[in-house]
Amino acid sequence: MSANITKHNYHISREERNRQNDHNSFVIWFTGLSGSGKSTVANLLEKELFTNGIRTYSLDGDNIRSGLNKALTFSLEDRRENNRRIAEVAKLFMNAGMVTITAFISPLKEDREEAKKVIGQDNFIEIFVNTPIEVCEERDIKGLYKKARVGEIKNFTGISSPYEAPDYPAIEIRTEEETVEESVERIIKVLKEKLKYNE
Ligand code: ADX
Repeated sequence: MSANITKHNYHISREERNRQNDHNSFVIWFTGLSGSGKSTVANLLEKELFTNGIRTYSLDGDNIRSGLNKALTFSLEDRRENNRRIAEVAKLFMNAGMVTITAFISPLKEDREEAKKVIGQDNFIEIFVNTPIEVCEERDIKGLYKKARVGEIKNFTGISSPYEAPDYPAIEIRTEEETVEESVERIIKVLKEKLKYNE
C-alpha cells in the first residue's frame, strides 16, 4: 500500500450484495485481436444475462479509451496501463455485485496474469475469441487493418505489435465455426453454476 494511505473498510460487503442480488459476481474477461468479435459476443452475452435478471456491466476497450483511458497510446507500456486500470475498475464493479464483462484486446499474457491476480483467480473467467488474423483482416470492419498495412497506423496488434493467445482459456470462441447466438449459449452454460448464490 502507498505511504500515508489507510484502508477503509466498507459496511456493505460484496457477499451481502451478492445475497441481495441472488447471484454471484465475477469478471468475464474477453481477449482477442481487433475485429475478432469480442464486443459482439460480449454485447449479446450481456443482453442475455440482463434479460435473465442478472446485474451486469460492460467495460469495452474502445469506450474506455474514449474516457478514462483517453490519454493512453498503443505502446506496450500504455496497453499495460490500459489493462491495469480496466482490471482495477472491473474489480470495483465486481465488488459492487455486478457480473462484469471486459472486452479489449489485452494482448500480453503477463498483463492478463496481472489482471487475474488483481481480480482473483476464482473470479476471473478468460474467454479467448480466437478469430485468425486473416479473417479479421478480411472483415476489416473498422478499416484499420488496411491502414496498418500501409503504415498509417503504427504498433497495430497482430501486424506490428504482438498478440499472445492464452494457453488455457476457460472458453474459446471460434467465430467462423459458430454463430454469435451459439457462442453465447455455450458461455451461459459454463456460467450457470458460477452464478448460483448459495447461502
Ligand atoms: S489494448 O491492446 O490496449 O487492449 P484496446 O482493446 O483497448 O487495446 O483497443 C483496441 C481498439 O483500438 C481496436 O479495436 C481498434 O479499434 C483501436 N486501435 C487503434 N489503434 C490500434 C492499434 N495500434 N492496435 C490495436 N488496436 C488499435
